[in-house]
Amino acid sequence: MFDEIRFNTIERLPNYVFAEVNAIKMAARRSGEDIIDFSMGNPDGKTPQHIIDKLCESANKDKTSGYSVSAGIYKLRLAICDWYKRKYGASFDPESEVVATMGSKEGFVNLARAVINPGDVAIVPTPAYPIHSQAFILAGGNVAKMPLIYNEKFELDENKFFENVEKTLYESIPRAKFLVVNFPHNPTTVTVQKSFYDRLVAMAKKERFYVISDIAYAELTFGEYKTPSIFEVEGAKDVAVETYTLSKSYNMAGWRVGFMVGNKKLIGALKKIKSWFDYGMYTPIQVAATIALNGDQTCIEDIKNIYAKRLEVMLDSFTNAGWDLLRPSASMFIWAKLPTNKAHLKSLEFSKQLLQKASVAVSPGIGFGEAGDEYVRLALIENENRIRQAARNIKKYLKEE
Ligand SMILES: Cc1ncc(COP(=O)(O)O)c(C=O)c1O
Repeated sequence: MFDEIRFNTIERLPNYVFAEVNAIKMAARRSGEDIIDFSMGNPDGKTPQHIIDKLCESANKDKTSGYSVSAGIYKLRLAICDWYKRKYGASFDPESEVVATMGSKEGFVNLARAVINPGDVAIVPTPAYPIHSQAFILAGGNVAKMPLIYNEKFELDENKFFENVEKTLYESIPRAKFLVVNFPHNPTTVTVQKSFYDRLVAMAKKERFYVISDIAYAELTFGEYKTPSIFEVEGAKDVAVETYTLSKSYNMAGWRVGFMVGNKKLIGALKKIKSWFDYGMYTPIQVAATIALNGDQTCIEDIKNIYAKRLEVMLDSFTNAGWDLLRPSASMFIWAKLPTNKAHLKSLEFSKQLLQKASVAVSPGIGFGEAGDEYVRLALIENENRIRQAARNIKKYLKEE
């Protein structure tokens, strides 16, 4: 019935590639099988106690249960400004350059919705976190993809990056207005140095496009590496916004708290569109987020240490099992090339086989775009014993012919 009535927005969205692997995973679980799950970037740890306590304290107060402020309560916006000042020496006006979001995904999608005219083009390096493309498609825009080139240490090839942006800018019709950058990168873990942002800001000014930077994994670094921000560059506000989330650094993924800062025109657009969609996060969540950003940061060290230990166990045990993995310097992932004797399978079939024959779930690289099809993404969200068990299962599977 009503076949002539089409839903264009939905039809332009691709089916979720991870759904196929998820369905096998759920079926196996329902039949009682223990699946060791490295598939999602969903932190398994508990939110630090002082943040939970603040949530409860605020929830128990009068006048915290009503509608809140869509752009974020002033104290949270001030805490966001303090966070940037402390970490990156960057200053923002809490009224016009900062907005709290219900996780960075919500902010990203609504920003695209606010600023994209029909047919506008955004450049997205691939493989990519799916939202980075789909936000523009949902908004009625188009995406120009360009390959992300990096070395064996997962460091970005800057020269190639800027060559590719230039090429994509000249080839895209109409000319692209936006570029998405996400370092440390999901899914590849690729990182950059501050010098990258110096070049990027200069190029964006010269070529007249906006940069949307996502630093979701900024705090999750291994060893000496420190994540830079685009706002360490003088004048970046003219061309850029940046988004960050409390989901990963503070184990708060389910709370849905993030923020976006920077260019007044873009932040103003996001604030305005959000004011039509929401009444703000539950106030106690915002109060607790203020404490997370302003309070004791040793909890981040604890969370990082857990990922760092798991990383060592995974690198060691999987390599022993016959699957050579390369070391990332940030994020909560390993971007793993398919083992040599399984390379012909490509990522989706390999992921299905891992589930069915080794009871291990991973994210097939194809879910992040065609450029990811020789890889799978492993998230460090299972404990060390389960990582070792997964390695034993994988060893048996890899020996099969
Ligand atoms: C690069 C990147 N950005 C944003 C998000 C979304 O985070 P949030 O929980 O803040 O919506 C994720 C989640 O996995 C991510 O990987």
